[in-house]
Amino acid sequence: MIYPIVVYGCPVLREQTQNIDANYPNLQQLIDDMFATMYNAEGIGLAAPQIGLSIRMFVIDLEVLAEDDPQFKGFKKVFINPQIIEFGEELESCDEGCLSVPGVSESVKRPKKIRIQYLDEKMEAHDEVYENYKARVIQHEYDHLEGKVFVDRISPIRRQMNRSKLSSMVSGKIRCRYRIKTAK
Ligand code: NI
Repeated sequence: MIYPIVVYGCPVLREQTQNIDANYPNLQQLIDDMFATMYNAEGIGLAAPQIGLSIRMFVIDLEVLAEDDPQFKGFKKVFINPQIIEFGEELESCDEGCLSVPGVSESVKRPKKIRIQYLDEKMEAHDEVYENYKARVIQHEYDHLEGKVFVDRISPIRRQMNRSKLSSMVSGKIRCRYRIKTAK
């Protein structure tokens, strides 16, 4: 099933998310649906709040980037109950976009390196270090679980530049190539 993607302005993108356990109903189906929803919208990451669920889970698939950079080959992962336990000191800026903020792409400064603990789709625990683009995508998705979106992290002047786009999202007056759900 392909879910509509929740757009900027919807309260669920700002809510606190809850950990889940292996008894979460139809978990594997939900994971499959999150990937299907993400692929349908041509995204590389999707967090549960973006389909309206306040739970701590996100999916990432960077395979589409593997043609240009082999480090992304086969990088398809599910992160359940993740906790970023270390952020590196070095920061890096890079353009980001988000399926919940269609039509906006802005530079965001983030730590280059993170250490994250999480469960995979089999509920097996991992403790891993990621750098560069992988760390960036993980941090972007992790932000969704903390009630944040990437435009919260852009400069006030850049936010001002995008003000009319953001307010049209809030008021539901946008068109999008995939199915969306707006606040109004
Ligand atoms: Ni996003």
